[in-house]
Amino acid sequence: MKFQEIKNNVFYCGLNDENRVIFDELIPLEHGTSYNSYLVKGSEKVAIIDTMYPPKTEEYLKNLDENGIEKVDYIIENHGEQDHSGSIPALLEKYPDAIVVTNSKCADNLREMLFVPDEKIKIINDGEQLSLGDKTLQFIFAPNVHWPDTMFTHIIEDNIIFTCDFLGAHYVFDDVFAKPSEELTHSAKRYYAEIMMPFRMLCKKYTKLIQEMGVDIICPSHGPIYNNPSDILDLYADWTKDEGKNLVLLPYVSMYGSTKEMIDYLSEKLGEKHIKTLKYDIVRGDLGDLAMGLVDATTMILGTSMVLAGPHPASVNIAYLAGVLRPKLRIASFVGSYGWAGKLFEPLAECLSKLKLDIIEPIQIKGKLTEGDYKKLDNMVNSIYDKHKALGLV
Ligand code: FEO
Repeated sequence: MKFQEIKNNVFYCGLNDENRVIFDELIPLEHGTSYNSYLVKGSEKVAIIDTMYPPKTEEYLKNLDENGIEKVDYIIENHGEQDHSGSIPALLEKYPDAIVVTNSKCADNLREMLFVPDEKIKIINDGEQLSLGDKTLQFIFAPNVHWPDTMFTHIIEDNIIFTCDFLGAHYVFDDVFAKPSEELTHSAKRYYAEIMMPFRMLCKKYTKLIQEMGVDIICPSHGPIYNNPSDILDLYADWTKDEGKNLVLLPYVSMYGSTKEMIDYLSEKLGEKHIKTLKYDIVRGDLGDLAMGLVDATTMILGTSMVLAGPHPASVNIAYLAGVLRPKLRIASFVGSYGWAGKLFEPLAECLSKLKLDIIEPIQIKGKLTEGDYKKLDNMVNSIYDKHKALGLV
């Protein structure tokens, strides 16, 4: 496969993975993914920026051969996770004079996870520059966007920034340049929700930084390249805002239908008050859809049946995931039905405790809903309405 030129001797040398159906064994992939790698031919030195996912190494090396790449001086590693660093040992074997250039945290990861020897690593500092002759690479540390070792690389003369996982998407492509579409926006949002949302404040900071840099091209390490940077930066500016939308997320698991009836009732009554809802069937739903709902929702009411003496395990999974994804939720509560006795909501509240949410009085019923139960649900709807109103959302 002939490498596509991005600009002035900067080439895409990554690979699509159309057949990958799940990432991190967590969120299903709707459009596969790509592992982006870039070849930068300076007048004196040649660099590769980020490498390849290990199962794709053979194909990756074959492509370098087919494109006549006989010499590589530097392997710039923006982040040590193995979907980008996994091929470094094979690359060092193929190009024995190459040196890995990275920050000290990433160097530790490469030493510990891939046994890259010390003498093959050059450690750089934040802001440091490296000359390839007519091109200068500048390194911008971006810790915890999303790993502590994350950094970006900027080619000053070409004004291209390589942002590692930041601003990426799990999305395959033929032409490397992004063509804005609802489908791509959807993939980028799912990706943000799972990978970047836990670091929202830092994402916000680095979105602003890249906006202010006025770069011409953004090259992430998954998904297409943006030669119109505002296409992705504007989306990130929205997703990383502190304010949620007028949206109530309603995930539920219901064994005999009572919990679902509560959720359906809440959805209907909230709709009557012009509050949007997103119902999510925990057992049958796609976790990516739930994560995307968490990007925007201000409120979450989690519905669960009781299994033995506690919440249904599937609901605990959702509460745990919401807790670790650290969304901008402000308000939460729980509804559910039990058969005999136990603690239905405490384990769920514990999972969400770090989010410091405003918790509305939960509603626990036994089997079919009584008139009194509907009144309690009406009160919950009124409470959500008042809180959304106070936030200026309705
Ligand atoms: Fe795509 Fe954090 O690796």
